[in-house]
Amino acid sequence: MSNTNLLFSSYQLGGLTLTNRIVMAPLTRSRAAAGNIATPLMAEYYAQRASAGLIIAEASQISQQGMGYQDTPGIYNMEQVEGWRQVTDAVHQQGGVIFLQLWHVGRVSHHKLQPEGARPVAPSAIQANAMTFVDGEFVPASEPRALELHEIPVIVNDYRQAALNARVAGFDGVEIHAANGYLIDQFLRDGSNHRTDQYGGAIDNRCRFLLEVIEAIIGAIGPERVGIRLSPVSPANGVSDTDNGSLFSYLFDQLEQLSPVYLHVIEGATMSSRDYDPAFDFTLLRKRYSGTYIANNGYTRELALQLTEADPRALVAFGRKFISNPDLVERLIQDAPLQSLDKHTLYGGGAKGYTDYSTLTDLARSKINSCH
Ligand SMILES: Cc1cc2nc3c(=O)[nH]c(=O)nc-3n(C[C@H](O)[C@H](O)[C@H](O)COP(=O)(O)O)c2cc1C
Repeated sequence: MSNTNLLFSSYQLGGLTLTNRIVMAPLTRSRAAAGNIATPLMAEYYAQRASAGLIIAEASQISQQGMGYQDTPGIYNMEQVEGWRQVTDAVHQQGGVIFLQLWHVGRVSHHKLQPEGARPVAPSAIQANAMTFVDGEFVPASEPRALELHEIPVIVNDYRQAALNARVAGFDGVEIHAANGYLIDQFLRDGSNHRTDQYGGAIDNRCRFLLEVIEAIIGAIGPERVGIRLSPVSPANGVSDTDNGSLFSYLFDQLEQLSPVYLHVIEGATMSSRDYDPAFDFTLLRKRYSGTYIANNGYTRELALQLTEADPRALVAFGRKFISNPDLVERLIQDAPLQSLDKHTLYGGGAKGYTDYSTLTDLARSKINSCH
């Protein structure tokens, strides 16, 4: 297919004009400085990828309690806002658009990362079958405690404040991380939510926390600045559900009413099979929501071209391909070869495997130099 495909044409996302329909998926890289503050190196990394139509910056905790892996950035104090400002300025200087993903990990944490070494929190006191990243290694998540009813509005308010902070830091909007088995997803799923109050049990009760978070954030920064990420069938971080079809049909109907600027959906098991749950019909789900749909998970150039041609309100997010190809957009346009990913430098460390991947221009230059 040609490079005149809709994938490479501009897109109006609320009030923002995206130069193409290629999105950089949120990618945790654990390179924040002490105090969970974004660094100049992170600004360079994101600026290198600013040709994406939209960058969704890595998951960032809304409070210390929301943290689950070492050296991830936060967005809950003014030093963190200042740190992020370097990133948004650098991306905007390159003509990019950037949202921040807002994160509370819930039970996917370790007591060493929690305020005063406390137990992580969750809808119910059920330990996650998941790993966290502490002191440079992956270790099992700690046993959590169930949130008290009166604590829930405090967390909703932390989300609201984090969204306001993100706007002060210069982000064009925020993405609510409701995917991959973190706190919001833990509330949605009946495997991790055994509550007997208004936040547990029936589907509408399990969706209540997410819907309250969305309403609070939309109330603070407006619907055109708020996207939501979901992973309806993914077993990531040990979540499960007895009837995800009904759960997500209900949720999509609610989201249609609330009108966030996009829904970002991980199709299949995160970073694994797209057909993880063949009975689940993503096409049917898509029909329930008339707004912008960002599709993700295992997309190739070919699949992305097919989707954007078939659905004029679809964008495609790439994760791993953006790590190893800072100029992914140009490579997709030219149908040029993609560089492979160094799995050893994903989390933690410095520039190696972070800002040192070559662009096509770098490669052409080094070829010319080697000829002289
Ligand atoms: C190193 C790494 C870090 C990730 N961090 C996040 C994250 O912070 N938030 C999130 O929602 N997904 C995260 N993901 C999942 C990706 O956003 C994406 O869903 C996944 O890589 C599948 O897309 P892909 O096949 O294009 O890589 C991460 C994936 C990788 C490989």
